Amino acid sequence: MFGRKAVDRAGAAAVPGEALRLEDVRKVYGTEGNQVVALDGVSLSLPSGSFTAVMGPSGSGKSTLLQCAAGLDRPTGGRVFVDGALLAGDGEAALTRFRRERIGFVFQQFNLLPTLTVMQNVTLPLKLAGRKVDRRRAQAILERVGLGDRLGHLPAELSGGQQQRVAIARALVTEPRVVFGDEPTGALDTRSARDVLALLQESVRMFGQTVVMVTHDPVAASCADSVLYLADGRIVGHQQAPTAEAVAERMTHLADEVERQRATTEAGR
Ligand SMILES: Nc1ncnc2c1ncn2[C@@H]1O[C@H](COP(=O)(O)OP(=O)(O)OP(=O)(O)O)[C@@H](O)[C@H]1O
Ligand SMILES: [Mg+2]
Repeated sequence: MFGRKAVDRAGAAAVPGEALRLEDVRKVYGTEGNQVVALDGVSLSLPSGSFTAVMGPSGSGKSTLLQCAAGLDRPTGGRVFVDGALLAGDGEAALTRFRRERIGFVFQQFNLLPTLTVMQNVTLPLKLAGRKVDRRRAQAILERVGLGDRLGHLPAELSGGQQQRVAIARALVTEPRVVFGDEPTGALDTRSARDVLALLQESVRMFGQTVVMVTHDPVAASCADSVLYLADGRIVGHQQAPTAEAVAERMTHLADEVERQRATTEAGR
């Protein structure tokens, strides 16, 4: 057998083509006597170039999972690897650097800076990371998301769908290892949601991007290659090549599944 250290070292960078790995990740909020276990030992491995949807009831830990995986929050226990590199807990500055170099994040409410133009919003992550600001590349990405003619506009001058496409361009501009989206279509009408999903799919299919997206919408989830189901802070299911019908069906039965899993766990104790 390998010693623990050897496994740690080998494990850190050993899996080729793996974009994201979580090992027994736990997140507990609150202080003793008043604790909420938001993540209860989540382990997963996602290959590079995959598009994964995360679904589950409200409060099941989806946002917590994304925030821990993206380095926006620290897990209470367990380990997160992005592209083989351990997301370590040594200081805010290190975490911020890790995030800037490896992660893109798209929020439900876009989170663009209101006083910056479209172009300035998209190039900001490069500036913050101290990287060369290649305006031509930024422009090419904005053209790809259909906003090549809006470079000088302010966010308030754009529709919700357009703002979210700027946010996606901003997430892609640093060429991150993984792009996370927490309900990126949650604030959009059906048509804009479809555009945003098509964009995410294109970034996976054509550019090999790895995408992890939380959604409540079975149609959005069906755009992904696979769906992870979360309940009570645990992964309770996994579905490949999902259809909207199959996802909706699975969500309906999720509560029953959780009960069944709880019973199995109890019986195994
Ligand atoms: N900052 C916090 N402090 C205390 N508890 C929190 C905090 N953030 C989340 N929680 C709790 O952790 C659990 C998981 O929350 P999380 O936001 O991850 O759920 P979610 O699956 O994203 O839900 P939704 O679908 O409603 O967005 C919930 O019980 C929530 O109340
Ligand atoms: Mg959430």
